[in-house]
Amino acid sequence: MMLCARCKGDMPEDTPGEIEDIQKEWDERSTSYDAYFNTFGGKLDEYLRWKLIKESLPEDKTARILDAGGGTGMVALPLAGMGYAVTLFDLSPGQLRVAEEKLRKHELSEAVEIIEADIAELPFPDEFFDLVLAVRGPISLATEPSKAVVELSRVTKRGGRICVDVSSRYWAVIQKYGRDPETALKLIRSELDHAHGAHGFGRVFSPEELEETFGRNGIKVTGIYGDFAYYLPEEMRKETKWEERSYNQVTEILERLSRESSVTGMGNDLILVGEKY
Ligand SMILES: C[S@@+](CC[C@H](N)C(=O)[O-])C[C@H]1O[C@@H](n2cnc3c(N)ncnc32)[C@H](O)[C@@H]1O
Repeated sequence: MMLCARCKGDMPEDTPGEIEDIQKEWDERSTSYDAYFNTFGGKLDEYLRWKLIKESLPEDKTARILDAGGGTGMVALPLAGMGYAVTLFDLSPGQLRVAEEKLRKHELSEAVEIIEADIAELPFPDEFFDLVLAVRGPISLATEPSKAVVELSRVTKRGGRICVDVSSRYWAVIQKYGRDPETALKLIRSELDHAHGAHGFGRVFSPEELEETFGRNGIKVTGIYGDFAYYLPEEMRKETKWEERSYNQVTEILERLSRESSVTGMGNDLILVGEKY
């Protein structure tokens, strides 16, 4: 778990950080970020997200895809490899430099437009993209998560798809309530909206809040899925070698849990799939 630069003692402030701090944090993490995807936890994380992204992919390869807060290109690069044209933006120039380098190595630079931008203020026209992705927490990490939702919805075409994930309120409550019941109580009462999530300190959502926030912005939610990878012991998630049998078993469990509506809100991340109407 990352250290939180925005916490006072044990009590997190209910305000996100400054743009410059977020930029600095992700610039510093840019050269080590991809190593996560060589771990068991990283592979599981990719497995679930790709399953849902693939279900949303347009058949038409000329479709416009936005990878919002796309970091080092972990999503944009495979999409470009499949033949899609992608626009990737991020707040962190360091993350974008890593993405640029990887695309160059794979001779895919032409397929991905890279832009430095804030998710809460997008430099794109209304209804521009056929598919909008914001994967592994950029909305939660944003300085203005509500504005981020407004902006992502605005740039999605009518009939276009959206697939994003955010940190989970109830998971944060479960993590906190033994050690810090005061904060956990504020989180569950919605008196506090920020906590540590799987990708850092940021805005947490319940499934209802998430659906309501996107619904208000013209997105019909077709599914909200829970990610339960963080329930695995840390030492298991950090493994860099594993048996295929164990991977197959765990991914089936995760996938079944992700679609089990009675436990969705307990997931460490919530993945929303929707369509602009
Ligand atoms: C956990 S990484 C995920 C990166 C990528 N989407 C992926 O799936 O690997 C979170 C990313 O969100 C970016 N981010 C945080 N706040 C942002 C903002 N306000 N606007 C754009 N990107 C932001 C960070 O710079 C970082 O690259």
